[in-house]
Formats: sequence, C-alpha cells, structure tokens
Amino acid sequence: MKVREILVTSALPYANGDIHLGHLVEYIQTDIWVRAMKAQGHQVTYVCADDAHGTAIMLKAEANGVTPEEQIAAVKASHETDFSKFLINFDNYHTTHSEENKQFSELIYRRLNDAGHISTKDVEQLFDPEKQLFLADRFVKGTCPECSAPDQYGDNCEVCGTTYDATDLKEPYSTLSDATPVLKTSKHYFFNLPEFEQFLKDWTRSDNRLQVSVANKLQEWFDAGLTSWDISRDAPYFGFQIPDTPSDEPDKYFYVWLDAPVGYMASFKNLCDKRAGTENALDFDRYWMQENEHKTEVYHFIGKDIVYFHALFWPAMLAGSELRTPTGVFAHGFLMVNGEKMSKSRGTFIKAETYAEYLHPEYLRYYFASKLSDKVEDINLDLEDFMQKVNSDLVGKVVNIASRSAGFLVKKYDGMLSDVCVESELLEDITKTGDEIAAAYENREFSRAMRLIMQCADKANEYIDGKKPWSLAKQEGTEQEVQDVCSVAINIFRQLMVYLAPVLPELTANAKEFLNIDDLSFASRNEWLLGHKINKFKPLMQRIEEKDITAMVEDSKASLTQADAPAVTDNDKPAAKDKTPANVDAEQTDYIGIDDFAKVEMKVAHVLECNHVEGADKLLQFTLDVGEDKPRNVFSGIRKFYEPEQLTGKKVICVTNLAPRKMKFGISEGMVLSTGNPKTQLTVVTLPDNCVIGDVLA
Ligand code: MSP
Ligand code: ZN
Repeated sequence: MKVREILVTSALPYANGDIHLGHLVEYIQTDIWVRAMKAQGHQVTYVCADDAHGTAIMLKAEANGVTPEEQIAAVKASHETDFSKFLINFDNYHTTHSEENKQFSELIYRRLNDAGHISTKDVEQLFDPEKQLFLADRFVKGTCPECSAPDQYGDNCEVCGTTYDATDLKEPYSTLSDATPVLKTSKHYFFNLPEFEQFLKDWTRSDNRLQVSVANKLQEWFDAGLTSWDISRDAPYFGFQIPDTPSDEPDKYFYVWLDAPVGYMASFKNLCDKRAGTENALDFDRYWMQENEHKTEVYHFIGKDIVYFHALFWPAMLAGSELRTPTGVFAHGFLMVNGEKMSKSRGTFIKAETYAEYLHPEYLRYYFASKLSDKVEDINLDLEDFMQKVNSDLVGKVVNIASRSAGFLVKKYDGMLSDVCVESELLEDITKTGDEIAAAYENREFSRAMRLIMQCADKANEYIDGKKPWSLAKQEGTEQEVQDVCSVAINIFRQLMVYLAPVLPELTANAKEFLNIDDLSFASRNEWLLGHKINKFKPLMQRIEEKDITAMVEDSKASLTQADAPAVTDNDKPAAKDKTPANVDAEQTDYIGIDDFAKVEMKVAHVLECNHVEGADKLLQFTLDVGEDKPRNVFSGIRKFYEPEQLTGKKVICVTNLAPRKMKFGISEGMVLSTGNPKTQLTVVTLPDNCVIGDVLA
C-alpha cells in the first residue's frame, strides 16, 4: 500500500464565541475522517487554529474591558478545552494572530502585488464619528429605502428582502453608538479576482476537488460575474497591517478573511517547527510548494456558509502567489436541532461545554456519524431520536455483544478464547465488510459506514441468540461449545471496535484493554484472536437518560446571556449581498409565507378539566373540548403561573394539528396558546364566552 501524506484542516473558529454543537458537526466530521485515514496507515496531519482577527473581536474585547490579545488567549484556551472533551485530535492548534501567519500573509500579499493582482480604489463608506471607525454593514441600521421598514441592517431588508448598500439606508444609525454615521472616503486595496476566472473555472471542474452541488454553486457565481475583493480595512482594526503602503497615508489592515485561510499554513508551519529534528518531522515545502503539489494532499473541511472563501478566493490567492492549491474542499451542511435552526429560547442553541456537562461526547460523535454523508445537506439532531439511536445501537447492539459473552469466558475459562474459530465464514464475512466500511469512511459516507457496522452487530447478536450460551452453560458436556460461541462473539466484537474506533476513540480504547490487544488499526482485524486471553469486562457505555437531555436543554435556556445578543456576535461574515448563506448562529426572524401560516390549525377549546401533574413542577394537564368526538389531553408548561381552578371552564386557543408529542406523563395532543416569557410570566390567552367551541381561528 502506498502511504499517502495528507494535510487536513477544519475551518478556524472565531475567537469571539464559544464552541457549540453546530461547530462540532465540522470538527467531529473532520476528526473521524482523520482517524479513519490514520487507521488505514496513511500519514495524516490535522491542524486548526483560532480565527483571531476582525472588528467583532476587537469590539468584544472592548466590551469585556480587556485587550484583544487577552481576549483571544482566553477564548483559545476555552476552545481547546472544549475540543479535547469531544476527543478532537488536532496535531496542532494555533492562532491566526501569530508570527507565522503574519509572515505568510505578507508573503502572499507581496507576491500578488508584484504580479499585479492588487489594485486600489477610493471607497465611500459610513463612518461612526463617535467611535471613530468605519461601519461594516452589520453595524449600521436604518429605514429600508425600498419598503420603509425601520431598523433594517445595512446590507438587506428582512421585511421586503431587498439588498442594497448601507449608504442607501434612510435615517441610518450606528448600532455601536447610535450616532448618525457620516460618509467618508478612504483608499481600499482590492484583490483582482476576475483575473483568475479561467483558472478558477478549470480548477473547480478538475480532479473531483469539489462536491457536485458546490461546483454548481460556483457556476452560478461565474455566471453572475466575479468582482474584485476588498481586502483592506482602516484602523482601528485588530489584525495585521498591510505592508509597503505609503507612509503618509492612514494605516491599512488586512481584512480578517485575507489572513484567516493563511492560518492553515501558519498552523502547519508552527507544527513543522515544533517537530523539527524528531522522528515525526514534517517538511513544510513538501506540502505547500507548487512543484510538490502531486506528492502530498491538502483537504479543507468547511461549512456551506464559507464556500466562497475556500473555493474562490483561497485557491486564487494561492495560485496567484505560486503556492499549491488544495486537493479538495469538502463542505457540510448546517446543524438543525429538533428539525429547526438552533434557538436560544428553545434551549437548542447548545454549547459544547453545556452538552459535556450532561452527556458523554461519544454519544454525539456516533449520532453525527450516523447522519453525515458526503453531501452538503443540513443534518438534524432530533433529541428523542438521538437518545433512542445511541441506546439501541451502541448500548443495545454493540456493547451487548461483549457483555453477554465476556462473563462466561472470564468466569469459566479464565478469559481464554478457543484455539479455533468455529464460525470462520461469519467472521470472514464481517472482515470483508470492513473493506466497504473503510471505503465509506474515506468517501465521507459515514452514515453508510455506521449502517454497515450495525448490520455486522445484528449478525453477531442473531448468532448469539441462536446459540444461547446462557442455556448451554446450564447443560452437561457443553463446555467447549460455550467457549467456542463466546469466542466467536468476542472476535466479532473486536472487529466492530476496529470499525468504530474513528468514531468512538475512548470507548474503543477501553475495549482494547478489555480485549488485551494493542492495535485497532484497520489491518489488525485480519488476525483473529485464537487461544488469546482477555481481561475482565467493565461496562463500556451507559444508556442515555431522558432527564439528562432535558436538563441540558433547560441549562441552555438559562445560559442565554446579554453578551450573546446578535449585534455582538457579528462575525465578519459577508451577508446576503455576497451570495453566501447568512450566518445562522444568531437567532433571526424567519418569515413564513401565508401558506405556511395556513398550515397551523387553531381552534376554540373549552377547558373541561385542568390538573396538576404529579412529579412535574412545570406542567399543568388540560382536558380540552375542541368540538371533536373525544376531548383532548394537552400539557402546558404554565404550572408556575396558574392554579388549575383559575383555568377550568375557560375558553382558550388550542393548536390542534400539532403532531402528538409523547411526554413522560402521557401524550400531549395539542398546545394551549399563551403569551409572555416562560421564565418570568406566561398568560394563557382566553377567549370571550360567546366563542363557539371547535371554531377555527383564522
Ligand atoms: N472563522 C471563520 C472560518 C475561517 S476558515 C479560514 C468561521 N468561523 S465560525 O466559527 O463561524 O465557523 C467555524 C466553522 O463551523 C465553519 O465551517 C462553519 O460553517 C461551521 N459552523 C458554524 N455554525 C454551524 C452550524 N450551526 N452547523 C454546522 N456548521 C457550523 O466561519
Ligand atoms: Zn424593505
């Protein structure tokens, strides 16, 4: 086998916020891929860094009363803690605010400039006279020039959808100071992207570098016409100063997105320096010099929102400065929780740290793996399904194979496995499936890999169920058979551990100890464990309990703080105008069409009964007449605000076509509408007595 030399990156998280489950889709996806490729014997290096520059970070530091350097150091430490909890095994984690990054950014810029790919142009922009800084679109609000909706951002109107320039807003104000911005002109530096059109067209269509849907998206961008990219920002800015600018002009800085991808190289260089002279030494030039392009591979894992930067700007920057371009860019979709965008108020905007307080990170790694494919589709974390899937697949199927066979072996045979395998066909079958599983990992079809693995686990369990070692053990003269059957089961279990190792590094490491083996590489599965002694079995994984999920969601609601408000989490990401999907991290208003609204059925309901629910301090239980044959049972989280008698006999509004929801205390067949805030005060909407039970609200 040829050992491939592969450099892998995940996008660099911004140094102004915590890691949340959405981010983790990416880091878990990349980490699984890296571990799988390492397990197949390749030489893989995985680097990342914090993305430390930009206005948002500067403002966040200011708000926290610290220097930007202090701000990014604290965030970097917390990011690294989060990543290690989720077993993300970076070979190096650096920062873009580093000497290496400065060097490479300057090098690339100078080469582009020398080759004539940089130009300057005067740009008139809104300026905050109080804060003394130019305002990015997200920091200006005003009245929409099209529909006159008030308080719209500087790039597009959320009411009528029009995109415009911030300078077109009527009655603009700065979201930083409320001051009325003034127009001010300054010189900006541009990267001449159109000069790379032909190169990019060829690049995106060759060598399967991009997923089909991404290549199609790029085609749309080509059709619309590429435009020059503004890569400079005026002081004050937290970043690197642009070199060689005229000394009699105000300071110019690289826009954060210029030096961010350079951070991949910088982190790798930092690692090369750390490892110099060791047996793991890495040769920087071998990975980044154009002439070595075919000796090594470079892959970037990213989210779909940053395709423009990675599939257009970045390869053009690299090609223009005579460096190698990435072998592939792999985009993934966004995380939904319970079928919706992550939402702070629903408690589904879950931070990595909060999750880890309640649930084991490997549960999430497995669940994401079972959902991820090579497509750019969004993935849904359905919390109920999450619990069921992890419990039934990992605890019920996989770990169960070991727990039901190890006991016999350790108790009766001193942990010795049989000298021969009595089911070589079954074992060979599972060994062979390993080839498909390896291919699925490599092609990033993790959900397929997980399906194949669970099919193997099913076969093992069927085998054990058929042989029933527990009843054999009670009979006379079956010693050998019991040992043989359990040995087959343990051998299959070992193979499953090999297959699951990229996803469940901790569980499989513990299993390695129990199995008394020292290798979980893919090739190791070919050697069966015969006449081999295993150690005492210890439980490898606990079931997920509903209460832990509930507690995590509640905690996520509670940890909602002012500092998380959207204005401060502006992430220097381009908005609608730049044709990339807007960042969904901050909760936004989503407009729905009248058709969507019409889907919701609301009816006048008569409260026949209202009761406390034993064991639930938040719920009241309603028996509602909504004009149907049978009354409905509905739970509502308003216990804190009402005594049941206050609502009995009232007419309320019930959403009647909400899918029935199974709760701990029974099935809820609808929703009673109330207003207010679940934390402070909720008021049930009651209707006048003359409303007719069962009438539809419209
Ligand atoms: N700093 C830039 C990347 C620079 S790379 C040279 C950035 N940072 S980010 O913190 O906003 O996002 C980091 C990665 O996490 C991105 O690839 C982004 O797509 C991904 N995700 C952030 N939120 C996500 C979800 N809700 N769901 C899935 N992925 C998400 O972008
Ligand atoms: Zn408008």
